[in-house]
Amino acid sequence: MTAETTPFGIGVLGAGTVGGAFAELLPERAEAIVNLTGLRPEITGVLTRSRGDFDDIVERSQLIVELIGGLEPARDYVLRAMRAGRHVVTANKQLLAVHGEELWATAREHGVQLRFEGAVAGVVPVIRVMQESLAGSHVERVSGIVNGTTNYILTEMAAKGVSYAEALADAQRLGYAEADPSDDVNGKDAAAKMAILARLAFDTPVSLDDVPYEGIEDITAEDMQFARDLRLGLKLIGTAERVDGGLSVRVHPTLLYSGHPLASVHGPYNAVTVEAPAITEITMSGPGAGGPQTATAVLGDVISAMIPPASTPETTQRLPMIEDVVSAFYVRMEVADRPGVLAQVAEVLGMQGCSIKQLYQHGLGDDARLVMTIHPVLESRLFAALQLIGRLDFIRSAPHAIRVIEEEYV
Ligand SMILES: NC(=O)c1ccc[n+]([C@@H]2O[C@H](COP(=O)([O-])OP(=O)(O)OC[C@H]3O[C@@H](n4cnc5c(N)ncnc54)[C@H](OP(=O)(O)O)[C@@H]3O)[C@@H](O)[C@H]2O)c1
Repeated sequence: MTAETTPFGIGVLGAGTVGGAFAELLPERAEAIVNLTGLRPEITGVLTRSRGDFDDIVERSQLIVELIGGLEPARDYVLRAMRAGRHVVTANKQLLAVHGEELWATAREHGVQLRFEGAVAGVVPVIRVMQESLAGSHVERVSGIVNGTTNYILTEMAAKGVSYAEALADAQRLGYAEADPSDDVNGKDAAAKMAILARLAFDTPVSLDDVPYEGIEDITAEDMQFARDLRLGLKLIGTAERVDGGLSVRVHPTLLYSGHPLASVHGPYNAVTVEAPAITEITMSGPGAGGPQTATAVLGDVISAMIPPASTPETTQRLPMIEDVVSAFYVRMEVADRPGVLAQVAEVLGMQGCSIKQLYQHGLGDDARLVMTIHPVLESRLFAALQLIGRLDFIRSAPHAIRVIEEEYV
């Protein structure tokens, strides 16, 4: 191609981990992009807190890349860019999980593209697969390990027997966890990503508020030891599935058998499993974050936006959100070691329709730790039983429950 190739102006909002990597990657790949699209990508300006002028950047760009993060001013900039007729590429999961419907409606209204591959699972192309390859499938369930920080911590705890605090400190030292890791370890980051995936997979509005989430802060080294004894792996799993004509989307620590495709996803990796009758199961995995990795996903979106348009998702239905679902459980509790305790625990569980599958008892001096697995039951029944058990006089530490996925695919 020659120097007369038509330029394609790209304005970049944010110059941090991802924005900086994107600004480095684009010139490196410019010739390849010219060959692919016939257009020459050029960065028209970069906006940070201390430099750049938003209106000037928009004026000179055909596409805006939003890599600021958070809700405001990112939302305002994205809306203004689209209203001015500019395509937008973003990696901002919180923004899409909270304001997605408003942003998609604005993109449709103004005939521009809003692309967001980097917002979920980094460079793993889950959004593209969901929007394009599987657009004709009747998806039944999407499950994912969509937060690399927590997967790194749980992997370390399982492999080295270290405590949660030790594994978190290690993750921070290696740059896998932020100085303030709250939204990663409490499950909120994963919940935002599952809201976006559910929105695409089930063609119904889903926002962060619809997704109950639980983090990994209460997982102990003992839980890991018992999980190993039970041949189970422990992961922070996001699930979005059809239940009784509605939809359940949730995130919580979950025990998996080794035959589950997500059981072998270790370290800071992400993976998403999609299940539909015609495809059985597809699992995609890879690096879930990092500047260069996410910048690669962002660049892929930029190139797609430079070629012909992709449709911006419009919902055609509104599925009811289902909060109570059936799950198998692992439960641990510490009790006084005296006759009749087990019988009382079993009785309360039985009254709520919960049936014990396996039971282990470990002596702790005058006390004992009970570890059990429970056959699938409505979650509300199990939690009601545990609340009652927690009030009994022989309880030394409140019962702690972790969901178990019993399906194995290989
Ligand atoms: N880091 C990852 O691995 C990763 C992975 C997937 C998705 N993401 C998403 O990518 C986005 C960017 O993340 P990041 O890690 O690159 O963030 P970051 O390192 O904190 O960088 C944020 C950038 O935005 C700029 N900025 C912040 N507030 C601004 C404002 N009010 N006006 C203008 N500029 C502002 C900052 O400017 P200053 O330089 O002036 O502070 C900085 O350049 C987020 O949505 C994040 O969730 C990140």
